[in-house]
Amino acid sequence: MMDEKLQAIRNEIEAGIENFDSSKALYEFRKVFLDNRDGKIAGLMKMLRDVPKEERPALGKGINQLKERAIDRFTAMDEKIHALELERKNASEKIDVTLPAAEIRTASLHPDTLIENELIDIFASMGFEIYEGREIENDYYNFTALNTPKDHPARDMQDTFYVSDEFLLRTQTSAGQIHVMEAKKPPIKILSPGKVFRSDDDATHSPMFTQMEGLVVDKGISVCDLQGMLDTFSQKIFGEGVKTRLRPSYFPFTEPSVEVDVSCFACGGKGCKLCKGTGWIEVLGAGIVNRHVLENCGIDPDVYSGFAFGMGVERIAMLKYGINNIKTLFESDTRFAAQFRD
Ligand code: DAH
Repeated sequence: MMDEKLQAIRNEIEAGIENFDSSKALYEFRKVFLDNRDGKIAGLMKMLRDVPKEERPALGKGINQLKERAIDRFTAMDEKIHALELERKNASEKIDVTLPAAEIRTASLHPDTLIENELIDIFASMGFEIYEGREIENDYYNFTALNTPKDHPARDMQDTFYVSDEFLLRTQTSAGQIHVMEAKKPPIKILSPGKVFRSDDDATHSPMFTQMEGLVVDKGISVCDLQGMLDTFSQKIFGEGVKTRLRPSYFPFTEPSVEVDVSCFACGGKGCKLCKGTGWIEVLGAGIVNRHVLENCGIDPDVYSGFAFGMGVERIAMLKYGINNIKTLFESDTRFAAQFRD
């Protein structure tokens, strides 16, 4: 009886043991027979108690042999399966060094940001502090305090978006000049970058764009200081050898007012497509701060004077990078953006 049971277990092990390909499954199968408490072989040991005494030693020996053989068999099989598993793992993790590498796409800064950073670096190196104004202004800061009262024809130069009767989206960073001069007495030397808004839309104008405003107020500031600063600035941003030229112009908040040209950095002034054959490129507006503006801010124009300037960041970016439509700057096409690097 018991002999048959032993044989049956042996057969059962042999019938099943080859059928596994994972060590975990094999372990579960092993437990069926070799678990110290619930295994079938432990069960045989328990049955031994009910066998006549004289048969026990021989049977016990048989069970022990069965156990040892089972252990040997499972151990060998376990090693075999482990080796197989390792082989499989190695095969799945094999690296084909001949495969082309996955493309790593790095982000790049927007051309506006690149130019803005460059301008800030240049002016900061000349001692300008950065002042960030506000995008929503009232009529007073955007126009009136800048010597542009209601019905002043200069208001027509900048088509304004009104937010309410009282508030508007600033049309120029010049509005920041007033806040600065109200808050701080001279010497003043600030650079104010920021978004401005105008109802204007074509290949070179966008309803939202970026300006850089500069303001210097101190005793004895003259056009010479402005010209000197402009030369340094132009050479740093457009290259050595670039010259500046001032042309008379008009802005309500400066007197005299000038339009600043730089000699064409593409052709060196000979005349080309970029400078439309003139040899010069207009880059910004500037002037000596109008005494009414100083007075509006409580600064005595008989003691202090200043110069101011304002430029369009997109215009500089377009000139520098050869971009011919301002829209491309705001379309968020990464194929466009990825072409600009520091
Ligand atoms: N605010 C002017 C504009 O948006 C630009 C400008 C011109 C700013 C002359 C100035 C300046 O500070 O002095 O067209």
